[in-house]
Amino acid sequence: MTITADPGPVRATMRGTLGELPVATAVKQTVVVPTYNERDNIAELLERLVAALPAGTTEIVFVDDSTDDTPAVIEAAAATCPIPVKLIHREHATGGLGGAVVEGMRAAQGEWIVVMDADLQHPPSVVPTLVAAGQRDGADLVVGSRYAGGGSSKAGLDGGYRRLVSGGSTLVTKVIFRNNLLQVSDPMSGLFAIRTSSLETSELRPLGYKILLELIVRNRPGRIVEVPYAFQPRHAGESKSSLSEGFRFLKHLAILRFGAKRARMLVFALIGVSGLLPNQAALWFLHAVLGVHYVPAAILANLIAVGWNFALTDTLLYRDRRQHRSFAGRISRFFVLGNADLVLRVPLLALLVSGLHVGVLIANLVTLLISFVVRFLILDGVIYKARRP
Ligand code: GDD
Ligand code: MN
Repeated sequence: MTITADPGPVRATMRGTLGELPVATAVKQTVVVPTYNERDNIAELLERLVAALPAGTTEIVFVDDSTDDTPAVIEAAAATCPIPVKLIHREHATGGLGGAVVEGMRAAQGEWIVVMDADLQHPPSVVPTLVAAGQRDGADLVVGSRYAGGGSSKAGLDGGYRRLVSGGSTLVTKVIFRNNLLQVSDPMSGLFAIRTSSLETSELRPLGYKILLELIVRNRPGRIVEVPYAFQPRHAGESKSSLSEGFRFLKHLAILRFGAKRARMLVFALIGVSGLLPNQAALWFLHAVLGVHYVPAAILANLIAVGWNFALTDTLLYRDRRQHRSFAGRISRFFVLGNADLVLRVPLLALLVSGLHVGVLIANLVTLLISFVVRFLILDGVIYKARRP
C-alpha cells in the first residue's frame, strides 16, 4: 500500500476573522464524484445535479482516473454548467476509487461533502436531502442507505450473484465492525454526506471501493444518521468492480481490522502453512520412498518449500514493495533467510528424532513452526522494509 503525501488536516479551519459575518459566497456543499471512464454519464449527471441543488452555494469536484476522454467531456460540460465544476485528473490512480474520493475531499471548500458515483445509480435528487438531514439532526455523517426503511437495492444490483456478494459482504462487515456500525445499515454505500469539520483526511488510508467504511472506522464521526434511497440501474457504461477489486476489499478489511503489519503477518502465516504441504510431501518422498537419510532429505525438502513460499510472498504479499530490490536480491536473501533456520532446525530435528524418538514428519513440523515467527520478523523488518517512495 502506498501512503499518499498529506497536505495536513482540514479540520476546524476558521475562515475569516472573529466578529466578521461568513462570506456570502461560502460553499454549503461540495459534491465529490470519482470517475473512471464515465464519458456518457457526465452530461446527464450534471443536468440532474443542477436541477437538484442551488448553484450559488454548491460546487462539484470530479476526481478522474480515466483512460478515455472523460476529462475532456467534463471540461466541456463544465463550461456551460451553472454550478462551478472542478476537475482533478490523477496520473496515478493511487488507492483506486477511495483514493480519488479522499483527493476530492481535500480540494473541497464546502461545509458538507457529498460523495456520489457518476453513473446515476445514486439519484442526484437525494443530495439535498442528505445535507438537510445532517443539519436537522446535528449529524457528522449521513449515509445514503439501500437497506434502511424506504430504501431499496433491487433495481441497481442486477442478478442474484451480485445481490449475494453485496449482501454477504455487508453482513461480514457488519459483524467484524459491529461497534462502529451500530447505526449503519449500508456500510458499503458509495453515497454519503460528511460534515467537513468532522473529517480528518490525514487519518485515512483509502484502498479501493469502500471509502465509507474507511471513514467510519478511522475518523469515528460523532452522530451518524441514514437516508433511504433506491439504488438505480446504471445510466450508461459498465461497472468497474471486478474480481481483483474483491481481493482488494478483503485486504482492506484485514488492514482495517488488524492493522497493516498484523494483516501481512496473517497472510505470511497462510503462505507458510501452505508451504508445509510441499515440505512434508518432499520429505516423505525422499525419506520414506527413496530412502534418503532424514537430515539431507529435510534440507532438500526445505529448499523446495522455500521456493514455493518465495513465489507466493513475492507475488501476493509484497507485490507493491518489489521495486525496492532486484529479483536476484530478493530471492537470494529470501533463500538465505528461509534456509538459515536449518542451522537451528537440523540440530533440533536430530534431537527430536534420534534423541526423543519423535517421528520424522512430526519432528519436522515442530521445528518449522518454531522458525516461522522468527522468519516473519526478519522478512518484514529487513528484507521488505517499508520505505518512503
Ligand atoms: N477516480 C476513480 N478511480 N473512480 C473510480 C475508480 C477508480 O479507480 N473505480 C471506479 N470509479 C468510479 C466509477 O467511475 C463510478 O463513478 C463510481 O466510482 C462507482 O463505480 P462503479 O463501477 O459504478 O461501482 P459499482 O456500481 O459496482 O458499486 C458502487 O455502488 C455500490 C453501492 O452504493 C460503489 O459506489 C460501491 O462502493 C458501492 O458499494
Ligand atoms: Mn455503479
